[in-house]
Amino acid sequence: MLNQIFKDTINELKFGYLKRKHPNKYCYLASISNNKPITRTVVLRDVTEEHHLIFFTDTRSGKVEQFKANPNAEAVFYNPKKLTQIKVSGKMNIVKDEEKIKYYKQKVQGKSQKDYTTQHPPGTPVKSPDAVEYQDELNFTLLELETEVIESLQLKRPNHIRCKFEKQNNWSGKFLVP
Ligand SMILES: Cc1cc2nc3c(=O)[nH]c(=O)nc-3n(C[C@H](O)[C@H](O)[C@H](O)COP(=O)(O)O)c2cc1C
Repeated sequence: MLNQIFKDTINELKFGYLKRKHPNKYCYLASISNNKPITRTVVLRDVTEEHHLIFFTDTRSGKVEQFKANPNAEAVFYNPKKLTQIKVSGKMNIVKDEEKIKYYKQKVQGKSQKDYTTQHPPGTPVKSPDAVEYQDELNFTLLELETEVIESLQLKRPNHIRCKFEKQNNWSGKFLVP
């Protein structure tokens, strides 16, 4: 049963970018800054063979510096239709591999490019939303969450099902008290 839950959990994550309008397209990604957690919504772009999660961001965004200082990261997904939660934790790699960057960067097309080309870094105060200025350079950074632990929780009757899967145990899982 645990093996099947693990497969279903990985598929649930993949549906996030494979199925249109699937709730797992978005997740909440946590970093640490000065010992305090910081969360934000991000789009899940890919899940690799090793179950790593791929995200795109602006090179100048706060999370990049935060992950450089402390790579510990966690992403949480919630599917309101199924009442399932998936938590993925591990170390965030700020990808340097040029081939990998090239492969993903070409997926940023058209209007989406705007998200990486603001004149000033994300989070800079601005007079109004209209006053944001743009330039040509794409400040694209590829983030790869190197998954170490995956936890799934499904709320259902008569029993909620909570499981933990760890890379160090070859992804074999165990049930937890929900
Ligand atoms: C629906 C939605 C999707 C988002 N997707 C991304 C994303 O894929 N990458 C990203 O860097 N920011 C994304 N953002 C913006 C982040 O939530 C955040 O505001 C921004 O990245 C700056 O975060 P930081 O200053 O904590 O680094 C998204 C926001 C929303 C509301």
